[in-house]
Amino acid sequence: MATLFAANWKMHHGPEQAATFARAFKELTFPEPDRSIWFFPPAVSIRTLANELGERPDVAIGAQDVHWEPKGAYTGALSIPLAQEAGATVALVGHSERRHLFGENDEETGRKVTALLEGGMRPLLCVGELVDQRERGETEAVVRRQLDAGLAGVMEHDLERLVIAYEPVWAIGTGKNATPDDAASVHAFIRSLVVERGGPEDITLLYGGSVKPGNVLSLLAEDEIDGVLVGGASLTPESWTEIVGLGGGGGAAD
Ligand code: PGA
Repeated sequence: MATLFAANWKMHHGPEQAATFARAFKELTFPEPDRSIWFFPPAVSIRTLANELGERPDVAIGAQDVHWEPKGAYTGALSIPLAQEAGATVALVGHSERRHLFGENDEETGRKVTALLEGGMRPLLCVGELVDQRERGETEAVVRRQLDAGLAGVMEHDLERLVIAYEPVWAIGTGKNATPDDAASVHAFIRSLVVERGGPEDITLLYGGSVKPGNVLSLLAEDEIDGVLVGGASLTPESWTEIVGLGGGGGAAD
């Protein structure tokens, strides 16, 4: 299975910076059959990246969040058809910043996942526990609850279109990351829950939280970890191409 590298740019890189990044990225990398690269730029830069990187068979462009309604009076929200028109084919759902800074609840993540699948886009559902939940030994209970809600409306045959990212909230943007062992054991738990629901054993599971060039190899060395979701270290072409080059079998062109 191809290793998946996902870049979450959060609230960075407008259209001009995105175009500059894309041009550098194209010079520094070439498509590898065993590697997929997904970019989640701010909504205003989706079209630019889709135009710049449209020729790359290894690249997909995504939205950082979508609304489940296809249109209507939802000021500030991005619908699935609008994201698709701009060039997005994938979308993040339930990122911890949406859950904890914007108050998105479990039920809303479920609606978004279902709407994305119905609309022909692939969801990347994010789950993960807060530090106090980990300290109380609740990691599995939290992840189970988030998955139950996120997957509530998903038909069995659609589970293979989903990607799930495990991102312990205490590891995001903090420089702390779960040990590869810790991450792998939560991944194994997530995989077992997907299989329990009739999904495929080989569903793609990403790890996210302070991934950088210095730790990506040890994470990807775990069989359970099929790729990474990267915030801070995806923001410069140098750091990002180093990550995808290290993990993808040496993709950097000379
Ligand atoms: P980080 O962010 O790599 O900066 O920790 C990861 C994420 O939020 O997806």
